[in-house]
Amino acid sequence: MKIAILGGTGSFGRAFAHRLAALGEDEVVIGSRDAVRARDAAEALGSPRVTGAANEDAVRGADLAVLAVKADGALDTARGIADALGETPLLSVASAITFEKGVGALPDSDGLSLAERIQDVVRAPVTAGLHSIAAANLDHAPPEEDALVCGDDARAKELALQVADKLVAGRALDAGPLASARALEGLTAVIVNVNRRYKAHAGVRITGVE
Ligand SMILES: NC(=O)c1ccc[n+]([C@@H]2O[C@H](COP(=O)([O-])OP(=O)(O)OC[C@H]3O[C@@H](n4cnc5c(N)ncnc54)[C@H](OP(=O)(O)O)[C@@H]3O)[C@@H](O)[C@H]2O)c1
Repeated sequence: MKIAILGGTGSFGRAFAHRLAALGEDEVVIGSRDAVRARDAAEALGSPRVTGAANEDAVRGADLAVLAVKADGALDTARGIADALGETPLLSVASAITFEKGVGALPDSDGLSLAERIQDVVRAPVTAGLHSIAAANLDHAPPEEDALVCGDDARAKELALQVADKLVAGRALDAGPLASARALEGLTAVIVNVNRRYKAHAGVRITGVE
């Protein structure tokens, strides 16, 4: 599979690419607003299966694109690559959480998830997931966590689940329609608050599912 990681120069994108490169099964293209930065990030991973390109070029010919840019740039990035992306499935890992001094991390106050708003600006089927997996937990080995993925398009969701399964030692679980991204993105605020309180890199395990 060819996987483009938009914003792959950042903490999460690099960790994601590192895990895929370690498995050696897929071709990975790290995307960036700056092609040189993308190529440098790809080179640093030292795998012939990882290359770098500007975001718009990274998605051309990909089987799956992962939107891993900073959340406040996610909508504009999606708009910018929409034509190059065409019908290629797009997996958003972004959460638009906010921080309030003295209070902590807060879920986005918008009624719709970022992923649903992204779906409004691209033709491609959008899925959302992996929000609960900390970049730091991807450094060494697949973490003992589950990866939750949601989406309305069955084929796009299967593809996203397939990739999510490569990242974790737990399970990749179908969390339902794209509207579930409201909860999955909101969960990021919960995890950030737990991390701050307990000085941890918390993850999620769903119990009761075989
Ligand atoms: N960090 C985690 O543990 C984690 C876990 C799960 C999900 N996520 C999600 O993954 C996404 C990336 O997180 P991160 O921690 O890797 O973020 P990050 O390092 O702050 O940013 C990732 C990349 O986004 C690009 N970027 C920054 N501002 C942008 C803008 N205004 N427009 C377009 N691109 C921009 C940058 O790439 P270029 O400058 O090279 O273009 C940057 O390297 C976020 O949406 C976050 O919610 C993060």
